[in-house]
Formats: sequence, structure tokens, C-alpha cells
Amino acid sequence: MEQELVNLQNQAKEQLATIENDGQLEEFRIRFLGRKSQFSSIMKGLAEVAKEDKPRLGQMANSIKKEIEALYDTKRQEISSNSSASSADNNGIDLTLPGRKPQTGKLHPVTQIMNEVCSIFESLGFSVAEGPDVEHDHYNFEALNIPAHHPARDMHDTFYVSDSILLRTHTSPMQARIMETRQPPLRVIAPGKVYRCDSDITHTPMFHQVEGFLVDRDVSFADLKGVLTIFTQKMFDRDLELRFRPSFFPFTEPSAEVDIACVMCGGSGCRVCKRTGWLEILGSGMIDPEVFKMVGYDPEVYSGFAFGLGIERIAMLKYGIDDIRLYYENDLRFLSQF
Ligand code: DAH
Repeated sequence: MEQELVNLQNQAKEQLATIENDGQLEEFRIRFLGRKSQFSSIMKGLAEVAKEDKPRLGQMANSIKKEIEALYDTKRQEISSNSSASSADNNGIDLTLPGRKPQTGKLHPVTQIMNEVCSIFESLGFSVAEGPDVEHDHYNFEALNIPAHHPARDMHDTFYVSDSILLRTHTSPMQARIMETRQPPLRVIAPGKVYRCDSDITHTPMFHQVEGFLVDRDVSFADLKGVLTIFTQKMFDRDLELRFRPSFFPFTEPSAEVDIACVMCGGSGCRVCKRTGWLEILGSGMIDPEVFKMVGYDPEVYSGFAFGLGIERIAMLKYGIDDIRLYYENDLRFLSQF
């Protein structure tokens, strides 16, 4: 019997060493530890051995059983930790796969640029003001020196709500609204949505502008140049050359359109700048004395400058996007890049 136990012990150790999975482990358990195992049948034989040998054999059988149980437990743990680390376990769950990242929301690229523009001007002492999208004809046109039938109205492709109410075509009405209620000195930017009946790869019926204006005594065109130079340097993170091109807006005199050296080619000429080396980024000028008179400021005492820039356009230049409509298709593959 003693020999039988030793044999069993050796067999158990041998078999255990070859076990690699749960199924083999279970076979082992049934063979060596279960109720109908070889071990049980040896134990039954214990009843027949001589009385004086019983305690010794009993003890020996017990310690061998304990040893086999301990080896079995160790093997079981080894297999279960291996299977969770290996590529696929029995439940079809692969714990080695990389986790799935929850998708987090992000600010729309237009909002990001809008925030950036506002914070640059805020750092220059401008405060932010917002006004209505549905606007009176008076603020959108009349107060900006664009009377009825003025040819400049033509360029605005206006959505009318009624004869005197419209969707604002630019953020410039905020100049009149603010000046009407406050006295100089003023340094204000007015971000917001604007609307024009126009749609192609560079126009959408709704887009965003930021209007800026500064009114005080002795404000000159040099101040406008200084502010816009700092703005473009900060916005495009480099020292970009600026060009002021004479232009016309009814609410500024003189007026200028501002170009920056092309951010794609640095000025040597490419497809984006249509080989000119320049990109137009905003309209600006010295506030027209007529505008001051309409809000009750004395143009002999005060002067000021104003500018208006399109956010989508700045974002397109900054990120190298060539179709404005991408912003509003809500395709996450596009939006999540920013
Ligand atoms: N409001 C003009 C537009 O939308 C842009 C503009 C031009 C704003 C010149 C200004 C300015 O303040 O001075 O086309």
C-alpha cells in the first residue's frame, strides 16, 4: 500500500506538470482527488491493513493527499492567471486588448478660433459685447451710413424678416448699438453669427464675425495698424507681414482691406493665395464722422477705428481647410481633428 501511495504521488506530480488548461485540470482532479479517484480506492484499502500499520499509513496518505491538493491549487491559479493574460479566455473576453477610449466632446473649431480671437483682443484691453442676430434695418444699415437704396446694400445679400427687420449681415451694427449707450473711451469687440443669402465653397448662409472698434481722443490709423499687427502675430504665431489695401466701406473713412503674407507659401505664391502671395483677412478703417454724428459723438473731439473679420476664414487659413462647408456638415471625422 505504501508503494501504491508513492506511485500515485509520483503519477500525480508527473501529470500535473503537463497540464495546460482548465479541461486537463478537471480531468486531473477527477482522477486524483474526486470521490471515485485512485486515491479514494487506496483509502478504502486502509480498512484491511494491519492495525499497527494503520496510523502510519493513514498519516502518510493524508499528507500525500494534502500535497496533491496544494499542487492542484497552485496549478489552478497559474492557469487562471495565464488565461486572463493570454489572448482569449473561455468566455470570449480578451483582456489583453487595448481599452476603448470613451469619446469626449470638444469645442467646434469655429468656437475655438472665436475664443482665441476674443482672448487676444481682451489681452489688449478690449471688452466683449454681444448683440441680437435678428436686427433692425436701422442698426444694420442706416446707422452705419448705408441709407436705403445705397449700392453697398447690394453686397449684403440680406435675409429680410419684414421691411424693417432682418438677420444681421455683419457684426458692425454693434458699433452703433454700443456707441449709442456709452461714452468714449471705448475698446470693444463683438463676436457673433451673421447671415447672408450665399452658399459655395467659401460662403455659408450663416457664418461668424468679430467686430472690433476703439474710440478715444487722438486715435490714428497708426493705432489701427499696431493693434492689427499684434493680433495677426498672436493669431498665426509668427511675425507675418501685413498689407493695407485702400478699399471702401460706408461706415469708415479711409477704409482698408488687410492682407497677410500667405500662411501656406510665406508670400512666394501658391494655389491658396492665387499666386499673389497675400491673403485677405479683414476689413477696417477709421470710423466715419457720419457714424459718430448719428450716435451723438462730436467727430471734432473723438476719432476711432473699426475692423471686422470672418472667423471661418481665419480658421480655414490657420488649419489649411479649403471648403468652408466642412464646418457645418457635422462629420466627427473632420471635427475631431481640432
Ligand atoms: N462689416 C464689414 C463686412 O461684413 C466688415 C468691416 C469692414 C467691418 C470695415 C468694419 C470695418 O468695422 O471698418 O463686410
